Amino acid sequence: MRFAIALAVGLALLTWGATVIVQKTTRAWFENDLGVRAQLAVNGAREALIASWDQTGADKLQTVLDELARDEHIKAVAVCSADGRPLARTAGYGGRHLSCAEVGARVRLGPEAQDSPGAGAWNGIERVSGANVYVSAVPVFDGDRPLGFLVLVHDLSFIESRETKARQFVMLAFGFLAAAAALVTLIASRLSWKSWSNEIRRLLRVGGQDPDFQPILRDVSELVDRIVAERESDNGGGAWTAQRLKTTLNRYLRGEKIIVVANREPYMHQHRPDGSIGVVHPASGLVTALEPIVRACSGVWVAHGGGTADRETVDAHGRVRVPPGEESYSIRRVWLSPEEEQGYYYGFANEGLWPLCHLAHARPIFRSGDYQHYRAVNHKFADAVLREVDLDDPIVLVQDYHFALAPQLIRERLPRATVTMFWHIPWPNAEHFGICPWREELLEGMLGASILGFHTQAHCNNFLDSVDRYLEARIDRDQNAVIQHGRATLVRPYPISLEWPARWTQSAPPVEQCRAEVFAELGLRSDALLGVGVDRLDYTKGIEERLLAVERLLERFPRLRGRFVFAQLAAPSRTAIVRYQQLNDVIEELAARVNQRYGRGSYKPIVLLREHHEPPNVFRYYRAADLCYVSSLHDGMNLVAKEFVAARDDEQGVLVLSQFTGAARELTEALIVNPYDLDEASSALASAVSMTREEQRERMRAMRAFIAEFNVYRWAGRMLVDAGRVRRKDRLSSRVARAAGAAE
Ligand code: G6P
Repeated sequence: MRFAIALAVGLALLTWGATVIVQKTTRAWFENDLGVRAQLAVNGAREALIASWDQTGADKLQTVLDELARDEHIKAVAVCSADGRPLARTAGYGGRHLSCAEVGARVRLGPEAQDSPGAGAWNGIERVSGANVYVSAVPVFDGDRPLGFLVLVHDLSFIESRETKARQFVMLAFGFLAAAAALVTLIASRLSWKSWSNEIRRLLRVGGQDPDFQPILRDVSELVDRIVAERESDNGGGAWTAQRLKTTLNRYLRGEKIIVVANREPYMHQHRPDGSIGVVHPASGLVTALEPIVRACSGVWVAHGGGTADRETVDAHGRVRVPPGEESYSIRRVWLSPEEEQGYYYGFANEGLWPLCHLAHARPIFRSGDYQHYRAVNHKFADAVLREVDLDDPIVLVQDYHFALAPQLIRERLPRATVTMFWHIPWPNAEHFGICPWREELLEGMLGASILGFHTQAHCNNFLDSVDRYLEARIDRDQNAVIQHGRATLVRPYPISLEWPARWTQSAPPVEQCRAEVFAELGLRSDALLGVGVDRLDYTKGIEERLLAVERLLERFPRLRGRFVFAQLAAPSRTAIVRYQQLNDVIEELAARVNQRYGRGSYKPIVLLREHHEPPNVFRYYRAADLCYVSSLHDGMNLVAKEFVAARDDEQGVLVLSQFTGAARELTEALIVNPYDLDEASSALASAVSMTREEQRERMRAMRAFIAEFNVYRWAGRMLVDAGRVRRKDRLSSRVARAAGAAE
């Protein structure tokens, strides 16, 4: 379709160009002709003109002019003396610039006018009585003596009508030729495509008579049909939506159910203080991104049942249908003992791998006991996947650093499964990764996946370097793939994003209402300037640096004291880990110090809201704020930055964003800062609060357009399309292998 439109536009431009060229050329020819005709007319009448030129011959002169004017294309004629006086003219001669004096100024009567025929003549177009006329003024000499000049006014309408006809003819001819050429090209390409696919189908029919080849041929035939279908559908892609993702899943993966494996569940059931059971949306970028995908694809989410009321809300198989009230997919809860949770989740995943992968100055702790639990829990989740599948080649999406071993464990038991793994956090350089005592086993485990995704190409490169350094495997740098035991794992960047439009923005109150409510809750004066930070209480988020930047802001810009308030929403996280407890204390002390230093009366520059906040409340703060500061010291992507942008459908508000987030590569209209540089960060905060509404709008609009296009449906769609391709290739090669085995 796109090709056809481009072709049509190209042909139209070609026809238009040809018409313009032809029109210009014919007009030049016609005008030249008129000039020559005028010269000929004067030459023919020269004798008679000279004889009747003086006053006594005035009547004769008039007769000569009337004679000349008989030509159907000459409208009027006049004779003027060499000093610009009118001597005679035919009826109808006139016009603003056709007086003898004016025309005389353009005609040359000097000796040079006799050098060649037409040398002193003047030709031009004038407008007379609303129509264009072509005027030729030709000098008349008696020997060497200039007598004056003859003015011929030609009718141009016949030229214009000829031109119109010529133009129409050219347009028709070119249009016809171009359309014919396009048609021939299209038919030729269709025929060659059709004959190619028909030829393969024919071969399949012939070969299909041999039973040994039937399974392979069935697959090849399927493949041809799919390539044809993909080719057709690729032309009409458009924006990525939940619907398009569903269609893609049907097309590439035959609508098969997807199974997500992620430690954190999207809905936790918790006991409330009053004894009732409530549903909580955990604070997790992974959950934010993945939940709309599973909702769109109706799969199963296998997760740790960590909510206090989780066991009470599942069926006999540990399943619960969600989202509450919508029930479009299932969570399959896996139960962990306190020892397992301690060793696998708090220990190896969050005290070992988490600090290993983030450059945030926390020393990783590796205990072999923790790793034993990690390994056992990975087995447990792989078992749970096995119980959920109803095919021998299911599609399993393994998520994050909690499950580095799971891809291989799943593949061992389901060799034909399509396993993708997405690593939601950064991947360190090979040297740094090498400090992990179980580095080889982790890498082998991950390579059980057919596709391994990271947020950025830099993380992919670090991973490939780690494989290169610690494993016996071939790295195909062109394909970005690792080949081991005859299997390939593609290593690709898939930058994660949000659903668009964001569910919580659509259900949020208007911005003015959010602002009024939040200002009232925080007791802010109406001209206050509000900054927000939204995070789990995690040392990688740079919350200390953020509060220090606020302190520096107030130090450097006294005018903001009493006016600028920073509200930090901080969800308690991984609180059983000492490092997280320390962070909590440090932040509390820091906020108290800044408030002590710059607070006055009821004014407190820093408001710490340390509790779990449900998404509607988080979005209220995003919408109420003048700025949002994301100051991570190292972050794979950071979806808070994207959420703030998604929340601002009023196109106001400024995002101040750490350069050490994956998001900084995409949201380039944010004010990008180094969070360690307090001068730079505080300057950015100052610029943010004084930015004009127009500039805010421009920046916000550009960032919103980016996220709208590069949304999470695209993220999942691209990964699933790649998975679908790998799957078809795997199916085909396993059939080929089986057929070859049978033939031996
Ligand atoms: C990061 C990880 C996620 C995790 C989230 C919240 O975003 O990549 O896997 O779910 O933090 O952490 P938590 O330990 O509470 O699940």
